[in-house]
Amino acid sequence: MDQVDEIKQKLDIAGVVGEYVPLKKVGRNLKARCPFHHEKTPSFYVSPDRQIWHCFGCNEGGDMFTFVQKIEGIEFPEALRILAQKAGVELKHYDPRVASQKNRLFDICAGAADFWHQRLSQNQNREAGAYIEKRKIKPATIAEFKIGFAPDSWDETMKFLLVKGFSESEIFQAGLTVKKEKGSGYYDRFRGRLIFPIRDIHGNIIGFSGRTLKADEAAKYINTPESPIYHKGGVLFCLDKARQAIREQGYAIIVEGNMDALTCHEAGFKNVVACSGTALTMDQIRLLKRYTENVVLCFDQDAAGQAAAEKSIDLLFDEEMNVKIIELKYGKDPDECVKHDVQVWIDSIKTSKAVMQFYFDKYFTADALKDPHKKKQAAKIVFSRLEKIKDKIERDFWIKRAAEILAVDEGIIREALAASDKLKQKPGKNLKEPEKKTAESRGLEEQCFEKILAILLNFPRLISFAIESLPPDYVLNEKQKLFYKDLILFYNNETGVSPEKINQWLKNGSFQFEKSYLDSLILLIEKFYEGFSAEEINNELVGLIKVVKIHYLDEKIKSLSQSLARAEQEGEKEAETQYATEIMNLEEQRARLK
Ligand code: UTP
Ligand code: MN
Repeated sequence: MDQVDEIKQKLDIAGVVGEYVPLKKVGRNLKARCPFHHEKTPSFYVSPDRQIWHCFGCNEGGDMFTFVQKIEGIEFPEALRILAQKAGVELKHYDPRVASQKNRLFDICAGAADFWHQRLSQNQNREAGAYIEKRKIKPATIAEFKIGFAPDSWDETMKFLLVKGFSESEIFQAGLTVKKEKGSGYYDRFRGRLIFPIRDIHGNIIGFSGRTLKADEAAKYINTPESPIYHKGGVLFCLDKARQAIREQGYAIIVEGNMDALTCHEAGFKNVVACSGTALTMDQIRLLKRYTENVVLCFDQDAAGQAAAEKSIDLLFDEEMNVKIIELKYGKDPDECVKHDVQVWIDSIKTSKAVMQFYFDKYFTADALKDPHKKKQAAKIVFSRLEKIKDKIERDFWIKRAAEILAVDEGIIREALAASDKLKQKPGKNLKEPEKKTAESRGLEEQCFEKILAILLNFPRLISFAIESLPPDYVLNEKQKLFYKDLILFYNNETGVSPEKINQWLKNGSFQFEKSYLDSLILLIEKFYEGFSAEEINNELVGLIKVVKIHYLDEKIKSLSQSLARAEQEGEKEAETQYATEIMNLEEQRARLK
């Protein structure tokens, strides 16, 4: 069997897509807000029967491979790798489809991680062993995260990888070596450092963070530079291990340091990820949003940490995430706090503050409230956050709170916010991309016939009724007509047409329409008729058929009237009567339909 088919058989599209977007069951299918365009109401559908997805908002669709490609922004070979791993299918590496450049780089990183991990676990370096001991990192954690030690050598790692069959330039592209300044050649980037592998959400190692063992080293960490597989702004350390827990617990804790995340995981706090020392980026937030809308930030208590926290909060607000802030009750970072006393860490989480409360406490200090000028300054900063709250009820709550604290009238705060709202509403300053329009400029009757097809494909029991009440000639769009004829032929040649048989037929047949259009027809049913009873569906079909027929008659009457006018002009009496009779006939039919 083809490996692609094997993977498709072992995985379910609902499971694959469900890892990225929360799916809700509707009828036989599932729906969600589309991850590929901004929308408020869901128009993204997944059909487990047909193992396809389709979005009526942006008109994209396909199978699980195209979904993973699109959402990860990757090519087929990498999607294949991800899904193979998920399905437990071992890829044949001679398959040219597997041997993409990126997959080679993944292999290099995996090889280096193993090499360094061996070095550490075999206790070959006393210094590294002592450091692990000092930081109290448990053997189980070292194994789970594949922590390693890069030997203090200019080329040991590179030589190891060359022997494995990777080229100098590939090793360089993976970020593991640095180009020599003089002459040609490369040398190892990571030397004499404790190595933390960095993984993408699928668990592929894509880069490394290397910590010095020395207390006085200028660069505490050295990291993989941007590479074809590693984008610093697009990864969160430990997310691959945390995503399950984040889903289950309904929120994520974001810490600054790799060590913080590691220590938290070690202590059983599995919903922790690290942003690696900088403010969160939009890419990271969107990644997180696949798993939760609730985040709790625990940045370091120093000035740099607080600045990064505020920057992150702004972006999180823009993405309409719910944000809370942890203020540690011990230590400068979670690593210290957890290692000191887990209970203190738990207390710190429990007493985390809503962001607005955090700002109130930070800026509306007793000192600031005493002085009118300082009070004004503080209010300005806090209001700039307050106005970002989009939910009206929540916003109202904080306005009332602010009014109490500042001892001013609520109305004044509302006025201040409204004034600044107006300033912002300059044309073209819309931050979000607008919802894409789908309703193409197709005629109403074509859209109606599309719905008819959707009903028939999903409820084949209605096909015979349709054949009787709507002969194909009534369908004016040629493609639609041909497809309808095909469907009638199929129906007439089969006994007991079930939705399953329809699916088989759609899958194997060749039609006038593109596959993705057929997919959309099948899923259209959920978009329009979610929750309809059998009877309501029947009524709908009757109504739609009427619209299509009336349109057909209207068009016919229009064109005959033109012919009639011409015949009158040219004095063709016989033709005149013929046209007139036909028109009357059609008008009668039309009247009966109304
Ligand atoms: P920290 O200095 O808080 O490091 O920087 P840490 O993880 O707590 O490490 P320990 O406890 O001192 O051993 C937070 C993060 O910022 C990034 C790293 O990802 C680090 O985990 N960083 C820091 C760098 O990339 N380079 C640096 O030189 C320092
Ligand atoms: Mn630390």
